[in-house]
Amino acid sequence: MDSIVVTGGNRLNGVIPISGAKNATLPLMIASLLSSEPLILENVPHLADVESLVRILTNHGVDYRVEGKRKQPNGCDGRTIHFSADDIVDTTAPYELVSKMRASFWVIGPLLARMHEATVSLPGGCAIGQRPVDLFIDSLAALGADIKVENGYVIANAPGGLVGATYAFPKVSVGATHVALMAATLAKGTTVLENAAREPEVTDLANCLVGMGARISGIGTSTLTIEGVEELYGYRHRVLPDRIETGTYAMAVAMTGGDVFLKGAEPGLLQSALDTLVEAGVTIEPKNDGIRVARNGAALKPVNVSTDPYPGFPTDLQAQFMGLMTMADGVSDIQETIFENRFMHVQELARLGANISVDGNTATVTGVKTLTGAEVMATDLRASVSLVIAGLVAEGKTTVSRVYHLDRGFERLEEKLSRCGAVIERVSG
Ligand code: UD1
Repeated sequence: MDSIVVTGGNRLNGVIPISGAKNATLPLMIASLLSSEPLILENVPHLADVESLVRILTNHGVDYRVEGKRKQPNGCDGRTIHFSADDIVDTTAPYELVSKMRASFWVIGPLLARMHEATVSLPGGCAIGQRPVDLFIDSLAALGADIKVENGYVIANAPGGLVGATYAFPKVSVGATHVALMAATLAKGTTVLENAAREPEVTDLANCLVGMGARISGIGTSTLTIEGVEELYGYRHRVLPDRIETGTYAMAVAMTGGDVFLKGAEPGLLQSALDTLVEAGVTIEPKNDGIRVARNGAALKPVNVSTDPYPGFPTDLQAQFMGLMTMADGVSDIQETIFENRFMHVQELARLGANISVDGNTATVTGVKTLTGAEVMATDLRASVSLVIAGLVAEGKTTVSRVYHLDRGFERLEEKLSRCGAVIERVSG
C-alpha cells in the first residue's frame, strides 16, 4: 500500500490549479442514466471515485469515451468525458461495486425514474458515522415507489412510473436531495422537495438537469419544484470547481505560511470557510480567476467553528481546520453537527503532538508551538488530508499510510503541493 511522506518546514509559494469538484462530478455522471442521449461532462477530475463510478455505470450499459487532451482554461488537466446511456441493460448495482463508494448508491434514483425498477446494494464509503439510507427510501416511496430491503439490497419498483408528490426532508441530506431531484425529473406531474440540500453541488446538478430538458424551479434554495417531463436529452456541462479542495489548500497555506494563488477557485462556493480563515488571521483575496491566500509571519488566531449544511462551514473541511488549529495561538472549539463519528483524525493528530480533547461532538484544540513528524494512518478521505497539512509544518518526517483514501478525492496532491515548495513524495509499498 502506498504512503505519503512529508518533511515539514517549508512555506508554500506559487500557484495551485483547482480541479473539478468530486462531489459534483459523481451525481452528474449518475444523471447520464436519465437520458438515452449522451451527457458530456467537462472538467472531470482524475480520481479513484470517478473510476469506481465508471465501473458501476458501464455495468448498467453506459458507454464511456474520454476526449483527447485539450488546453484547459485554468491549467488543470480535467478531462472531458462522454457518458451515453442509450440502452440500460441491467438495473442491478451489485455489492462488490457499490460497497467501495457510498455515492454509487445514488443510481437508484435515475434507474427507478427511467426503467421503473432498481436493485441496489446498500452502500459503503468512508466510515464516518452510521449514514443510513432512510431518507432515500422515504423520498422515493413518496414518489410512488414500492421499496423493500432484502439481503443487503434495496429493491425498488414503480411499474407505472414515478408520480410527483410533496416531500419534506426531515434532515438536510445532500445525497438524498440528489436522488429525489433526479427521480422527480421523469415523474408524472409536480414534485416539491422541501428542506432540500442547497450545497453548490446540488445546484450544479440541477443546472445540468435543466440543460438536459428538466423543469426545475427554486434552484439554490431549500425548496425545489420539479415539473416532470417525458424524457431528457443530451447536454454538455462543465463541472464546477472543487470547494473542498480549495479550502484544503487554503488551510495548507494558512498552516505553513507563504503566498499561493488557487487558480480557478470560486470564493462564493466556500464563503463561510474563507471568513473563518480571515478570522484566524489569514489573508484571503478573491480575484477574477481564483483566490490568493497568504500568511506572512502573523500568528494563527484560534477560531471556534461548527459544521453546518451549506452555506455553513462544511463538514468536509472540519478535519483540515482542526489540523490548522493545532498550531493556533490559543484554544478553539470545533463542533461536528453533520456526522456523529467524524473525529477519527484526532488520535492521529495527537501522534504528531497536537493537544485535542473530545467531548461528544465537540473537539477542544489547544494550540501547540511545534508538531513533530510521526507515522500516522489515513482513516477517511478528509481526515487523511488533515494529516498531510499537519505534516507540512511538523518537524522531521511524517508518513501517512493508507493513502488510497486520499486518491479517492484529491487529484495529484503531491504534485500540486511540491510545486509550491512542499517536500512531499509518494512511496509505493
Ligand atoms: C455528501 C458528500 C460528503 C459530505 C456530506 C455532507 C458526496 C459524494 N458526499 O455526503 O462529502 O460530507 O454530503 O455535506 O457528495 N442521513 C440520514 N439518512 C439518509 C441520508 C443521510 O440520516 O438517508 C444523514 C447522515 O447520516 C448524515 C446527514 O444525514 O448525518 C448528512 O448526510 P448526507 O448529506 O446525506 O451526506 P452524503 O450525501 O452521504
